[in-house]
Amino acid sequence: MAHTDRQRWDRRYATPGEHLKKEPNDVLIRHVPPPRPGARALELACGLGHNALWLAEQGYVVDAIDISLAALHSARAEMNRRGLSGVNFIVADLDHFALPVYAYDLVCVFRFLDRSLFPAIRERVRPGGLVITQTLNVRHLDRSPDCCVDHMLQLGELPRYFPGWTVLEADDGPYMSGIVARKPG
Ligand SMILES: C[S@@+](CC[C@H](N)C(=O)[O-])C[C@H]1O[C@@H](n2cnc3c(N)ncnc32)[C@H](O)[C@@H]1O
Repeated sequence: MAHTDRQRWDRRYATPGEHLKKEPNDVLIRHVPPPRPGARALELACGLGHNALWLAEQGYVVDAIDISLAALHSARAEMNRRGLSGVNFIVADLDHFALPVYAYDLVCVFRFLDRSLFPAIRERVRPGGLVITQTLNVRHLDRSPDCCVDHMLQLGELPRYFPGWTVLEADDGPYMSGIVARKPG
């Protein structure tokens, strides 16, 4: 991703009053199991960290990655405000960053799509662990025709990235598609 994109996201997160999501994702809340001792989660493109912080509140140790330093400053401030310490916020460009090498109990990604990351995502989930992801699909073009179609899922696309996994939920909604899948093991 170009430097200008990092600046664009930093500007967005630095603008007070901007309409940015701050609540944990519903699918995450519905599907995440209580963590076993030492359970680890990874969130990609975590933004303001609302999902990562929620996971830390449940007891997960979380690695949360985003390109925007401004977003992660806010996320860290919110972590301190809540008296939490379980999230390692990592500023990195996922175009070039090798994902941390752990066997994660959960890998999640919301409202971000980089198809080239799916092999690494599959690899980083421990056997029996979960992937949860949800992002825009092409139906979004009906309301925002100028958006870049490359950043949107085709309908039915997500399950194809998880062959042999148990799909617990897969949905093409009015503008978002999501999947919850368990790795065999
Ligand atoms: C639409 S926001 C979604 C944020 C969060 N996942 C949520 O659902 O609220 C997209 C996020 O992707 C991050 N991002 C964009 N390109 C990135 C890249 N190349 N590497 C890491 N993060 C990136 C942005 O900084 C932003 O926080």
